[in-house]
Amino acid sequence: MNAQGKIEEAGFTPASRIAAIGVSKILQIGARANAMKKDGLPVIILGAGEPDFDTPDNVKAAAKAAIDRGETKYTALDGTPALKKAISEKFRRENNVDYAIDEVTVATGAKQILFNAFMASVNPGDEVIIPTPYWTSYSDIVEICGGVPVLIPCDAEAGFRLKAEQLEKAITPKTRWVLLNSPSNPSGAAYGEEDYRPLLEVLLRHPHVWLMVDDMYEHIVYDGFRFVTPVAIEPRLKSRTLTINGVSKAYAMTGWRIGYAGGPKALIKAMAVIQSQATSCPSSVSQAASVEALTGPQDFLKERQASFQHRRDLVVAALNAIPGLACRTPEGAFYTFSGCAGVIGKTTPKGKRIEADSDFTDYLLEDANVAVVPGSAFGLSPYFRISYATSEAELREALTRIAEACVRLS
Ligand SMILES: Cc1ncc(COP(=O)(O)O)c(C=O)c1O
Repeated sequence: MNAQGKIEEAGFTPASRIAAIGVSKILQIGARANAMKKDGLPVIILGAGEPDFDTPDNVKAAAKAAIDRGETKYTALDGTPALKKAISEKFRRENNVDYAIDEVTVATGAKQILFNAFMASVNPGDEVIIPTPYWTSYSDIVEICGGVPVLIPCDAEAGFRLKAEQLEKAITPKTRWVLLNSPSNPSGAAYGEEDYRPLLEVLLRHPHVWLMVDDMYEHIVYDGFRFVTPVAIEPRLKSRTLTINGVSKAYAMTGWRIGYAGGPKALIKAMAVIQSQATSCPSSVSQAASVEALTGPQDFLKERQASFQHRRDLVVAALNAIPGLACRTPEGAFYTFSGCAGVIGKTTPKGKRIEADSDFTDYLLEDANVAVVPGSAFGLSPYFRISYATSEAELREALTRIAEACVRLS
């Protein structure tokens, strides 16, 4: 890998479809921070995109039981009947949306759901509207599939949410999809029903545009925020919406690799064609575990939510007390996306001028040994993302160091 994270080695020429794509900036920062840690530096990494909780015991037990029953073979291509049924019931129970069994698909993580969906639907030059800041994989997957990401800036003043006028303006005859994520990685911003409605009205006027919604952080919302998914608000869009979700974040199951979606039958079928030539099916054991996750006790979700909310409050208050930083209070997920315009133009003790958010995050890593991710990695500057899915003690220490590092700027 070269300095830009691009794959480049003697004797190997990567395919043109990945020419513009580098290894994720988040992974690069993580690798650098871990290398510093190995060298004995007291680095705190606030970059993790996964809960610091363990997978619930009942879910682990269901996986062990599945192994003992011999469920260790290939399963049905895009999900076992048992898991599809559990997902269909979940959509009805929690989201007030009816997806029949043949409108449900299961893949190796929500990431593969996105990949299957874009591979199955995007032709070269098709446009996909993505509000920024966005989860970094969105634009890369669209590009790998030959599509064109159309990035629309949505800053803190806009609540990091796309507005109807912006959407209307961005739509062209080439628009294939609009991709919305609520609560969002990286901003934590979420769309309430009143935020979604004007956007859905725009989409009703443009029947060639499909809607992809990523509800991955549905269960991590705060202050009584009422999560809602677009198809529940506007059933007329059901025939051209893909509703994506998964067990990774809510059930602390990132390593089990199960994501799912509900959508129109024809799209679901086309996605299965892609999956059939990629992975054949998701892991049998993980699917059995996911049935238990979705149908077993759910009360721990509230406890975990409260723990995350406590940490969110701590981080937001600490960031807003630091001159030069300004952090909007997120409605959900486990990230803050703080503005850092007030430190741009300042100079570090070593005499380096901070020109961009990535200079600031480099400075925090080198000077304060705190690893965070610059807004540029998510398509919006000048900001930086903190993942607070780590212990309170570590968060407090990291925020003290960030505050002290900011004081040392001149
Ligand atoms: C917004 C969002 N969607 C989807 C995913 C992917 O989740 P999975 O583990 O199911 O692939 C992530 C993971 O970080 C995410 O942040």
